[in-house]
Amino acid sequence: MNILIKDILALLPEGFQTCSVYISGSTIASISAVPDGFKPDKTINGKGKMLIPGLVNAHTHASMTVLRNCADDLLFNDWLFGRVMPLEDKLTGADCHWGAKLAIMEMLRTGTTSFIDMYYFIDDLAQAVQDTGIRAVLSRGLVGGSDDPKAGAQRMKEALDAVDKWKNIDNLSFMLAPHAPYTCDEGFQREIAAEAKRQNLAINTHISESLNEIETIRESYGCTPIELCDRAGLLTDTTVAAHCVHLTDGDIKILADRGVFVVTNPVSNLKLANGVAPVPKMLEAGVKVALGTDGAASNNTLNMFRELSMLTLIHKGVNHNAQAVTASEGIAIATKNGALAMGRSDLGEIKPGNTADLAILDLDRPNMQPNNNPAAALAYSAYGTEVETVIVGGRILMENNEFLTIDAEKAVYEVSKICERIGTK
Ligand code: NI
Repeated sequence: MNILIKDILALLPEGFQTCSVYISGSTIASISAVPDGFKPDKTINGKGKMLIPGLVNAHTHASMTVLRNCADDLLFNDWLFGRVMPLEDKLTGADCHWGAKLAIMEMLRTGTTSFIDMYYFIDDLAQAVQDTGIRAVLSRGLVGGSDDPKAGAQRMKEALDAVDKWKNIDNLSFMLAPHAPYTCDEGFQREIAAEAKRQNLAINTHISESLNEIETIRESYGCTPIELCDRAGLLTDTTVAAHCVHLTDGDIKILADRGVFVVTNPVSNLKLANGVAPVPKMLEAGVKVALGTDGAASNNTLNMFRELSMLTLIHKGVNHNAQAVTASEGIAIATKNGALAMGRSDLGEIKPGNTADLAILDLDRPNMQPNNNPAAALAYSAYGTEVETVIVGGRILMENNEFLTIDAEKAVYEVSKICERIGTK
């Protein structure tokens, strides 16, 4: 299908510009110049609207929407071991499927076109991605060690089976996901690193999230979690490491030297009282930084606009520096850097030849007027609900606030039923 988005204020690599964008099949064919023989099947009038690259939620657990608002105001360990894990034990594959559908609705609704996920029941999640048409990198969370090698091996088998089963699906790819240094011992981390190399898969993991983790790893291994993951071979230039809140200068140097993508999750880190990641310091040291919401049990939204706002505000306050993370830097972190973390240089920017993953915002909302500075509007004024149309790979998934690939009422109903069964409602 050919789509023409006419006369729209678009965020291009060189800045904001009013132009027309020509989409042919899954690709952005041209900006402003009409491609040879181009006949639009659909024309979108861009007057009063803004076109941005789809946001990339580079760290989440989509299925955890079923646990939204049921584990709140708790410290990290009480939250995870006392509340979340016992509830997760009650979840089935179907539950994770419906939770993922609700998550995908929320992400599309707020302009996210891609996400990187870690969870279990990965086939049910993959099916939700395929049904809805969103783009995702999935990874089966791996927990294991020498105390129960069979369990770790079984989880690894599930991870690799899913990679094989879904390998030819266009909008889906996979990573291998050691859950965290405190749930995978060094031997298991080494096994995962070796398997990732054999299968040519990137690593997706949580590192240095809580002070408790820092203490636990220091007691067991006499080093920091980053040093442990590095010596186990997990840190490479395709590795995606969520959180990285508590870092030494040496840790930051390792992350920069190895070319790791750090995914910062400011809202989740605040809500679980884990702290504030040293993002300006990492940027200064040349660490690649992307942005994620984490799961709905610790955020409690999957709204990348709220995350962008938090990212661009909190480091100003903490560092007494109004330019610690600027609006434009934050937008690049939420788009292009996230795409690169997915291994996709064809996403995250609106330019000819790139894949058409796009979101259109309504600028006629009171909070978006007057339109003095569009970058500031995105980072500081937008709620996310200004997004009205979303395109993934040239396919319209949400048009004028209507989902075209999701039965939203059914997803909400199914998730509500799950919450009644597991006792959170
Ligand atoms: Ni997480």
